[in-house]
Amino acid sequence: MPRISKFLATYMSLPLMTILLVFAQASCGLAQIKGSLAYVGSSACKDCHEKEYNSFMTHAKKSVSFRSIERVKKELTEEEIKGCYYCHTTGYGKQGGFVSPEKTPHLKNAGCEVCHGPGNVHIKTTDVTHIKGTLTTEDCEACHISERVRAFRYKPLIHGGAH
Ligand code: HEC
Ligand code: HEC
Ligand code: HEC
Ligand code: HEC
Repeated sequence: MPRISKFLATYMSLPLMTILLVFAQASCGLAQIKGSLAYVGSSACKDCHEKEYNSFMTHAKKSVSFRSIERVKKELTEEEIKGCYYCHTTGYGKQGGFVSPEKTPHLKNAGCEVCHGPGNVHIKTTDVTHIKGTLTTEDCEACHISERVRAFRYKPLIHGGAH
C-alpha cells in the first residue's frame, strides 16, 4: 500500500498539478476576487474615465433614476418603494450594494456599475480583468424586462443608456 501511494504521489501528481495550474489561471480576474467585490458609485470612475463619465451624467436617465422613484413616492408604500430599488439604484440586494438613500447615497442612482459590475477592486488595480468590459443584452435584461420596455430595442442599442 505505501508503495502504491508513493507511486501515485510521484506520477499522478504531474498531470494533476498541470490541471490545477490551468484552473488557477482560468480563474484569474473577476472569479478570483468575487468575495471581495463591492459597489463604489459612478463618481469614483470620473478621474480615469472622464469622457464616459461626463457623457453618462449628461445623457443617461440612469444617472438620475432615483428621482423617478421620488416623483411618485407619495402614492407608494414602503414595500413598494423597495421594489423599485432593484432597477433604479446600484446593486440593491447584492453584496456591497445600495442599502438606503441615507446609508449609501453614492449608490442611489443606477450608475456605471449596473452594467460593468462592482468596481471597488478595479479602481485600485486599474486591471481590465477586474471589471466587466464586454457586455451582452443579458446584462440589460435584468432590468429591461418586457413590461418596462418602451422605445427600447436591444440589439442596435447595446450602447444606449450608457455613454
Ligand atoms: C424590473 C426593473 C424595474 C423596476 C422594478 C422598476 N422600474 Fe422604473 N423603469 C425601469 C426601466 C428599464 C425604465 C426605462 C424604460 C424605458 O425607457 O424603456 C424605467 C422608467 C421609469 C420611470 C420613467 C418613466 C418616464 O416616463 O421617463 C419612472 C417614473 C419609473 N420607472 C418609476 C418606477 C417606480 C416608482 C418603481 C417602483 C414602484 C419602478 N420604476 C420599478 C425599470 C424598472
Ligand atoms: C447601460 C450600460 C452601461 C452603463 C450604465 C455604463 N456603461 Fe460603460 N460600456 C457599456 C457598453 C455596452 C460598452 C461597450 C462594451 C463592448 O464593446 O462590449 C462600454 C464600454 C466602456 C468602457 C471601455 C471603453 C469604451 O468606451 O468602449 C469604459 C472605460 C466604460 N464603459 C466606462 C463606463 C463608466 C465610467 C460608466 C459610468 C460613468 C459607464 N461605463 C456606464 C455600457 C455601459
Ligand atoms: C485609477 C484609474 C481608474 C479608475 C478610478 C477606474 N478605472 Fe476603469 N480602467 C482604468 C484603466 C487604466 C483601464 C484600461 C485602459 C482603458 O481602457 O482606458 C480601464 C478600463 C476600464 C474598462 C474597460 C475594460 C475592458 O475589458 O476593456 C471599463 C469597462 C472600466 N474601466 C470601467 C470602470 C468603472 C465602471 C469605474 C468606476 C467604478 C472605473 N473603471 C474606474 C483605470 C481606472
Ligand atoms: C440595474 C438595472 C438596469 C440595467 C442592468 C440596465 N438598465 Fe437601462 N435603465 C434602467 C433604468 C431604471 C432606466 C430608467 C431611468 C429613469 O428614467 O429613471 C434605464 C434607462 C435606459 C434607457 C433609456 C434612455 C436613457 O438614456 O436613459 C436605455 C436606452 C437603456 N436603459 C439601455 C440599457 C442597456 C443597453 C443596458 C445593458 C447594456 C441597460 N440599460 C442595463 C435600469 C437598468
